[in-house]
Amino acid sequence: MNRKIVLLVVAAVLVTAAILFLVPGPGRPPLRKAVATRTPLAVMIKGRALFVQNCMICHGRNAKGTDKGPPLVHRIYAPNHHGDIAFYAAVERGVRQHHWRFGDMKRLPNIQREKVAQIIAYVRSLQKKEGIFN
Ligand code: HEC
Repeated sequence: MNRKIVLLVVAAVLVTAAILFLVPGPGRPPLRKAVATRTPLAVMIKGRALFVQNCMICHGRNAKGTDKGPPLVHRIYAPNHHGDIAFYAAVERGVRQHHWRFGDMKRLPNIQREKVAQIIAYVRSLQKKEGIFN
């Protein structure tokens, strides 16, 4: 095949992928709400996808909370009150109801720590954007 055509196809695929990841949609809360830390965009995109799949049903779009779980974008969950360790523990061991009245959070043992780290990066950035911490 003509090299130019191959290059064009590759460029088109890359542009489409970039648009798919960057343009907000039902499963993609806007990243502009979350770009406040120096976290690389690729990590933010992964963290967002993992958050959407595993946490959003209770913690809500942009971590603003639902009727099933609290907002994580909240002063209570600022890094100096609930450090990253609280996030790993929540996922690994679950959470007993204590701050709110939503009931317990069940453990989510299938999410590896590496993935939790990406979710944390995403949530911290959302928090920072909302001025929860500086
Ligand atoms: C089925 C609903 C549900 C899902 C899914 C869920 N959570 Fe929760 N989560 C809760 C509830 C409810 C609480 C509040 C418990 C309380 O403090 O009363 C909570 C609390 C937390 C806390 C605070 C822990 C603490 O020490 O107080 C963190 C952090 C957290 N969740 C992170 C996550 C992350 C990350 C995910 C996705 C990987 C997730 N949650 C998925 C319901 C959920």
